[in-house]
Amino acid sequence: MKITVKTGRITEEAADTLLLSHWEDETRFAGHTAEVDAVLRGRLGELLKTQEFSGRHGQISVLHVAPGERLRAKRIVLVGLGKRADSSLEKIRRAMGTAAKAIRELGAKSIVTPVHGMARSGQSRPNGPKEAGRIQVEAAAQAMVEGALLGLYQFNAYRTERNGAVKVITSMTVVVDRDSMKAQAEHGARWGQTIAEATSYVRDLCNHPANVMTPSYIANESKMMAKKLQMRCTVLDRADMERLGMGAMLGVARGSHEPPKFIVLEYRGGPSAQRPVALVGKTVTFDSGGISIKPADNMEQMKADMTGGADVLAAIRAAARMRLPLNIVAIIPATENMPGGSATKPGDVLTSLSGKTIEVINTDAEGRLILADGLTYAIRYHPEVLVDIATLTGACVVALGNVAIGVLGNNQPLIEELKEAGEQAGERAWQLPLWEDYYELIKSDVADVKNTGGRPGGTITAAAFLSKFVGNATWAHLDIASTDWSDKEKAYIPKGPTGVGARLLIQFLRNRALGKGRGLSRPGRVGVIGKGRELSRPGRAGVTGKGRVLSRPGRAGVNDKTRISGLRQTAGANGGKASRKVSKSQAAQKRARPGERRLLLSRRRAGG
Ligand code: BES
Ligand code: MN
Ligand code: ZN
Repeated sequence: MKITVKTGRITEEAADTLLLSHWEDETRFAGHTAEVDAVLRGRLGELLKTQEFSGRHGQISVLHVAPGERLRAKRIVLVGLGKRADSSLEKIRRAMGTAAKAIRELGAKSIVTPVHGMARSGQSRPNGPKEAGRIQVEAAAQAMVEGALLGLYQFNAYRTERNGAVKVITSMTVVVDRDSMKAQAEHGARWGQTIAEATSYVRDLCNHPANVMTPSYIANESKMMAKKLQMRCTVLDRADMERLGMGAMLGVARGSHEPPKFIVLEYRGGPSAQRPVALVGKTVTFDSGGISIKPADNMEQMKADMTGGADVLAAIRAAARMRLPLNIVAIIPATENMPGGSATKPGDVLTSLSGKTIEVINTDAEGRLILADGLTYAIRYHPEVLVDIATLTGACVVALGNVAIGVLGNNQPLIEELKEAGEQAGERAWQLPLWEDYYELIKSDVADVKNTGGRPGGTITAAAFLSKFVGNATWAHLDIASTDWSDKEKAYIPKGPTGVGARLLIQFLRNRALGKGRGLSRPGRVGVIGKGRELSRPGRAGVTGKGRVLSRPGRAGVNDKTRISGLRQTAGANGGKASRKVSKSQAAQKRARPGERRLLLSRRRAGG
């Protein structure tokens, strides 16, 4: 759909459909709606008088312009915005989603609309408690475009029978009164389109069935994207992962014939010395549960168990397209989770990339296994912040319903930042505690940790497990199992994969690019590393130092593919200082051939 912003008078626009709005608690039309009503000599107002239309949120009325009436539009669609006192950007998004779908149903091809939800003069209006009290032109235009595009989303890739009959709207024109508003509205519209496209992209990736949307497919998709947007892309295959020692990831992939791919994308939009934002997304292209197989009911929905990875891919794509001045690394561990003759069995112990051993109690708790290696890989970049996103636990649905994302982490400012981004983006997140008491539940009798803590507090114990693999990075985890799939169609949410997560992540990145959320890595905060300098102090080389050694080109006999992943760039970002201080066993690893590294690691753990 083509989106245009222009300056003009709404009463003079030629249009197939003119979309107007009304607040429920106002007895008379105002602004553009009143202007058009005047031209129609009160015919719109009749709808209010007869109470056919009240302006209830999402309510729709259609009025055809009669021959001889002095309006160049063919028809008017009225949409209710609800009570003005309850107004918010989310209300605008939803109203636009509903309206755009209704207009498409009419068979209309184009929409012309003023900017809704704010005063005609361009003055702002109250906008709910959270949004600093006002809707600005830019934000309103963004919400409108976003809501309409998200509402119009359709997935027809596999339909052969009703292709001819599919209705589409080809253009939407946002009309502003004055030239001074145009740049703002355009900027908003552009973001709205970018964000809606990102979400649609996630929905597409998740709608495609698992026999098409394989780890290899996603790897190819990532490579193509990287080429187009000048990002760096590295894809590790099974052999690379074996060489590196990604035992947790490989443990999940074992049961599947579909080759796993560990995908790394790097976008460098910020100063080269700036530490990256690292995003890790769970990408299980189909989760059967493995040997701990899932019940058949609704199992088809597990094709969307890759939503987190798709979100991360969509977010880095949006950041690159909009040229955000940030460095970002996207980590996408992609695999199926299948039963099979060589599948991981309950009771098996896996050695993760971090060296930590994991007892697999339930093979259906696979997301945290692939994330364990994904997070370990991520902290080698010394990210300023580390965020993972995953359809991780059914318990999250139980805790929050299909309403909110679960958020947990080791750094309160980062959690607040994510919650704020979610609120702004229309994807709300709610924090669950990560208290020490929960760690009791994932203690293993035979290994360093076990992969489930049982049913109680399932979302929390999953996060507790993940936290064991983030070193001292500033980290937060988003559990989107609650909202990644919708059983019913809503205003701008389709039935099926919702594409949740991309909007929150993009808003988060956008806020960071604006400088909000900086200063998280200031020394002195609990659970925060940061400041590369500190890492270089002798005696602190531990986990992070290890990674850095591995990551340097030409060291440790790392194979080419691993080297080109550009990890060395972050060694540079830390001034390369830290890596000079290496412990004895790290020096040994440095000399070791890749295959030997794991052995060395386990010996060290065993106290050698
Ligand atoms: N992918 C599922 C979680 C999920 C459930 C996502 C429902 C979306 C909707 C995850 O891999 C899983 O199976 N988790 C288990 C963990 C349990 C075995 C500890 C769960 O939540 O049941
Ligand atoms: Mn599972
Ligand atoms: Zn899963």
